[in-house]
Amino acid sequence: MAFPESFLDDLAARSDIYDIVSRYVTLKKSGSNWFGLCPFHSEKTGSFSVNTEKQIYHCFGCGAGGSVYNFIMQIENLSFPEAVEFLANLAGVPLPQEDTRERDNRKRLLECSRDAARFFFQVLHSPEGKIGYDYLIRRGLRPGTIRHFGLGFAPDSWDKLMNHLAAKGYTKSEMRELGLIKANQKGGFYDQFRNRIMFPIIDVRGNVIAFGGRVMDDSKPKYLNSPEHQLFSKSRNLFALNYAKKTTGRRLILAEGYMDVIALHQAGFTEAVASLGTALTPDQAKLIKRFADEVVISYDADEAGQKATSRAMEILKPEDLKVRILRIPGAKDPDEFIREHGREAFSALLERSEDHMEFVLDRIRAKCDLETDEGRVNFLKEAAKTLARLSSPIEREIYASRAAASGSVSKDALLSEIERNRRAYQRRAKNEETRKLLSPEKNAQPASRALRYTDVKTARAEEGIIALLYREPEFAGALAAAGLSDGDFTSPFLQKICRFFLDQYRAGNSVTSAALSQCLEPGEMSELGRILSAPDQGDSASAGRDYIRILKESRAKHQPADGADPLLAMRDLHKEKKSYGGTK
Ligand code: CTP
Ligand code: MN
Repeated sequence: MAFPESFLDDLAARSDIYDIVSRYVTLKKSGSNWFGLCPFHSEKTGSFSVNTEKQIYHCFGCGAGGSVYNFIMQIENLSFPEAVEFLANLAGVPLPQEDTRERDNRKRLLECSRDAARFFFQVLHSPEGKIGYDYLIRRGLRPGTIRHFGLGFAPDSWDKLMNHLAAKGYTKSEMRELGLIKANQKGGFYDQFRNRIMFPIIDVRGNVIAFGGRVMDDSKPKYLNSPEHQLFSKSRNLFALNYAKKTTGRRLILAEGYMDVIALHQAGFTEAVASLGTALTPDQAKLIKRFADEVVISYDADEAGQKATSRAMEILKPEDLKVRILRIPGAKDPDEFIREHGREAFSALLERSEDHMEFVLDRIRAKCDLETDEGRVNFLKEAAKTLARLSSPIEREIYASRAAASGSVSKDALLSEIERNRRAYQRRAKNEETRKLLSPEKNAQPASRALRYTDVKTARAEEGIIALLYREPEFAGALAAAGLSDGDFTSPFLQKICRFFLDQYRAGNSVTSAALSQCLEPGEMSELGRILSAPDQGDSASAGRDYIRILKESRAKHQPADGADPLLAMRDLHKEKKSYGGTK
């Protein structure tokens, strides 16, 4: 979606970054910036800064940063157009005309999706869907639960849904966009979901955005899921979050399957959610953090489920959530367990669910044969390595006692091995620190691998040029006078920004971070935030001269002798002679 730049600038001007950020973060003035605790990573010292003059934010701790649009995208977990809409609502600004059309289009798609859900629901409650209804009842669902989740049934037909939606006025292209119908070779269309139980996927705002369709036997594939489309991103939604977010405990239960979640809700555990046919993603972890401080992972008991648990733990780690792991004895998943043992029993499991460390120790224990000396030594070593990472001595002591007891090794031996590992860690961390200090170039790289600089020195000058262009657009003139342009940049990403700046300058526009948010990827935008937050060089004229010199040197290096500027090439040849001798 493209918003006119003038609209974005105007909206940004009405959405002062200080006002917007203050809705989420307590800011204190320090120097010319405002500081606070970063909402995007956990910290005790405020590395999160807001610069009202430049209208940007930047976190020195985690690298997050950008314009007010990026802030809303990040904190509300929204796409760019959604963030624009969000801010427009706050500011009471109507969206531009062109955008109303887009919004109408969006509204129609949402309505179409909801109408499809209503259709599936009606079919489930009709004779044609009885087979599906009976299946769900057989699986232990109550009629009220079926209604609550809006479950439905896709009839065994090639066109019933399509005809139904067409009669309601939706176009083929809308149905296709939603993944409800597919094209056949003859140019016709057919219903994608046939003879399946339908699970509507509902976003936090209560919109039906997609479907999962399950077969009723063992045929494959077990589930068909809607493809991603403009209203549906698998990695940014969670099944049943629309209900789970209403529970008050700031705790969520993360299960693997739709059926598990439904069974959990039916048993009263309304804080259960599941990812959507993929492994848990970092975006989902952020979404969880919006609604909870604690997650209980309750995946299937099989090896695949346990592996997925380890992975999910890693994904959840950066969000600073308390993570516990619930393991299900004697059943394959929460659904089966609740059906066999009831809600009280599950409640007991939930209370007993172990924390992260116990789960990890258990996985280590399972790998070692504790019957043999060798196995016990391995256990001791591995457990010590893991426990050495705990920063609290009390925790180390407690877990060491438990691990020693359950692994049949002596606690003293384990503790001394932990200490040995800690010393080794600290040594390594110190070396790493020194290495970083000695080679500042390593620190000067963008966080994202894709944006890495090949020529750090020149890229630093390019960064300087960009910061300067932002503060003093007239510097574009000095650059042109020196015969330099974005084409001389070595970093493609900085080049793109420079080109944008120069184009804007030529067109007589001033550059705003709002306009930039639209042309840069979020990762690029946050790098730009870092660049623009660097302290001003006191003497910009002399800094500018330095940057120009460095860029010229780099250009000469990259296109020797027959470079665009013959004069420059000659001068450089000359210099080469001087520095490397030949004459001695
Ligand atoms: N899944 C999927 N496609 C498949 C299999 C699984 O998208 N072919 C996703 C679904 O989101 C499913 C989850 O992975 O809910 C867990 O899979 P599974 O345990 O196989 O399914 P359940 O929903 O638990 O179904 P049931 O208990 O009926 O076997
Ligand atoms: Mn399952």
